[in-house]
Amino acid sequence: MERTARKNGLVQGVSDELAASMRQGWADTERHDLQPLPQAAHTARRRAALSARFPGELLVIPSGNPKVRSNDADYPFRPSSDYAYLTGDQSQDAALVLEPVAEGGHRALAFLRPRSDRENGEFWTDYHGELWDGRRNSLTENEQVLGLPCRDVRTLVEQLRAAAGPVRILRGHDAALEAALDGTADAVRDEELRVLLSELRLVKDEFEIGELRFACEATARGFEDVVRVLGSDRPTSERSIEGTFFLRARVEGNDVGYASICAAGPHATTMHWVRNTGQTRPGELLLLDAGVETNNLYTADVTRTMPVDGRFTPLQRKVYQAVFAAQEAGIAAVKPGAAYRDFHHAAQRTLAEHLVSWGLLGDRTVDEVYDLGLHRRWTLAGTGHMLGLDVHDCAVARTALYVDGTLEAGMVLTVEPGIYFQADDLTVPEEYRGIGVRIEDDILVTEDGSENLSAALPRTADEVEAWMARVRG
Ligand code: GLY
Ligand code: MN
Ligand code: MN
Repeated sequence: MERTARKNGLVQGVSDELAASMRQGWADTERHDLQPLPQAAHTARRRAALSARFPGELLVIPSGNPKVRSNDADYPFRPSSDYAYLTGDQSQDAALVLEPVAEGGHRALAFLRPRSDRENGEFWTDYHGELWDGRRNSLTENEQVLGLPCRDVRTLVEQLRAAAGPVRILRGHDAALEAALDGTADAVRDEELRVLLSELRLVKDEFEIGELRFACEATARGFEDVVRVLGSDRPTSERSIEGTFFLRARVEGNDVGYASICAAGPHATTMHWVRNTGQTRPGELLLLDAGVETNNLYTADVTRTMPVDGRFTPLQRKVYQAVFAAQEAGIAAVKPGAAYRDFHHAAQRTLAEHLVSWGLLGDRTVDEVYDLGLHRRWTLAGTGHMLGLDVHDCAVARTALYVDGTLEAGMVLTVEPGIYFQADDLTVPEEYRGIGVRIEDDILVTEDGSENLSAALPRTADEVEAWMARVRG
């Protein structure tokens, strides 16, 4: 016995004869016909933009390691968004390295796991060997696909230890690579790299816009699937809604881009309701906040609030129409050159006006309410955020470029006002309690205004009712 093989908890001895058998008898499957990824030209441009910001420095952007769920079971792997942005690749345990070159600029190298070695048994004795996890591209195959030179990632730690000169690493994804740079890299400078990557992603290129457009289209189909289930004879629950949408996300894309919020009745007033343990009941609203993530990892982020039985009650409709008016005001404020905060103020101001007009704020004027922020008891959150590879995209971009910045063509953001009356809120009339409404769309800033990428889904109360009637048939 020269080694053991372990999978599924079973430890078995390996005879020399079995080891010899596993070493040979495998066909050469190297492929020579692979095409570059459709986004290869874009990833090259993105790397060039990064290179220009850090001349003369070695830059390391890891994809990350799989996270253990328990024992030898991992969570599904998703690479760091910045690695995916700069390479188009989704491998685990990989890294993009930008090496400064003497004549200026950088040489980009992808460090990846090569094919499993059959000679040393890694192929089947390693937990992540190809026999168990599936075939990987060889390094030369990946050079064709990614359009950049590829190296064996197992040599990277040693190369980083030997690195001389300024170096930065994107932290939080690969502890072993960070450890290799202990004493060379510096947390403050590394944070500058992380911030810059977030800022590079603020304006989307044509490929990214195509991905977000598709994410929204698939998401609209997922919402229709949910309406069909709501209208079926079978009893529905928040879980059946979550599962219905997830099926669409897995069939048309990679996953959902964030945990789906399937919030029926008073659950709609809990902003991050992802337990989804409730039932759906006629007469109540369903707030569904869900997004398909494409196979290239771009996500939609869409919310519709719909009556479970297809018809709004007069009070539900009143609240819905206030949120709709706020969303209209918000979307109208999205255009190039506008301050990022404009759409937020436009939407929130509209919400405040409605709340005051309903007598919920005593004698206060709208100006007073708005200045003191009193409406926020019921509007809770900001009105939107950037969207892209991450649902809350570009999250570490500097304030001056993001929330205090100016909208530019190519940015994509959500506009998602809402009103949430908690079930135990004694300051509103009883009939309001437990009503939560949000409408969320994904808006592309264009040269002359904006385009609603999720416009395939209805937004007015009448349109929602008509849509539900039509989809239910
Ligand atoms: N679904 C998360 C958000 O709307 O921001
Ligand atoms: Mn959302
Ligand atoms: Mn959102």
